[in-house]
Amino acid sequence: MKLADRFVDLATRSVPLRTLIFRRLLLRFPIGSWAQRLRSAAVRRPHYAWCLYYAALQAKGLGYHAITVVELGVAGGNGLLCLCDHASQVRKELGVDIRLVGFDSGGGLPTTRDVRDLHYVWPPGSFEMDRQALEKRLAGRAELLLGNVSETVPRWQPPAEAPLGCVMFDLDLYTSTREALPILTKANVLPRIWCYFDDIRGYPDMALTDYIGEGAAVREFNDDPQRSVVRDNISPAHVFHGIPREPWHEQMYVYHRLTHPQYDICLSQSEHQLKLVA
Ligand SMILES: C[S@@+](CC[C@H](N)C(=O)[O-])C[C@H]1O[C@@H](n2cnc3c(N)ncnc32)[C@H](O)[C@@H]1O
Repeated sequence: MKLADRFVDLATRSVPLRTLIFRRLLLRFPIGSWAQRLRSAAVRRPHYAWCLYYAALQAKGLGYHAITVVELGVAGGNGLLCLCDHASQVRKELGVDIRLVGFDSGGGLPTTRDVRDLHYVWPPGSFEMDRQALEKRLAGRAELLLGNVSETVPRWQPPAEAPLGCVMFDLDLYTSTREALPILTKANVLPRIWCYFDDIRGYPDMALTDYIGEGAAVREFNDDPQRSVVRDNISPAHVFHGIPREPWHEQMYVYHRLTHPQYDICLSQSEHQLKLVA
């Protein structure tokens, strides 16, 4: 982008320029707690960190020592490596261990025939993985499950000691997301699973709606009355005063397992009496 265009872009965003500059600085020179930098979105991929942190907080409240976090669609592995960094921060802050699992074909986007798979945006074979290079960088911090998610997801179960706590959906295609969404219905999960959907919104040339791509898969998943819905009302702009809405806020979802035996346990630390003031 030309310098002048870059300036126009930055100077007119809903997030003040000062905030964007400070965030950049905080990435280079991190001060304060990681949790505060997360609330200020001054960490890499705040959407990933947000899901991880709040899933771990829920797990801690329920007495779990570990959770499983899944990335669906790994490609080169930048997202999974970012999750590794966030996981070590969450371990330090909350004492909850994070088991990371990345699902991917290894060979990029599969060839599919469904017209809702956005072939006009991504051709088959996009986002191939260099498995050797990625495994070297991961150095055992995350497990890679390679193969088509239509086969790997049904075969997989979260480990007994680490219920599934959050899922990053980044498979791009309607069919792949449809095949992967039942991961939320596994037996060993937290009562509420934090989810991020990368392609539920996008650039104008993607022309996304709820009837194609990830959005269509989510809509169909939610149509089934046997399942609890995936929906957001929890993004930072709702929670913290003075935080302007940012694009990633629209991509945060939560799956509620209403039938979970621990669903009703109160985890709130707030004061629950409103005494008459003098
Ligand atoms: C956009 S890339 C993921 C990018 C990654 N999450 C990141 O942030 O760096 C999408 C990935 O989904 C994978 N994928 C899509 N459909 C799949 C399927 N049916 N089974 C396995 N992997 C699939 C592709 O291999 C591709 O690497």
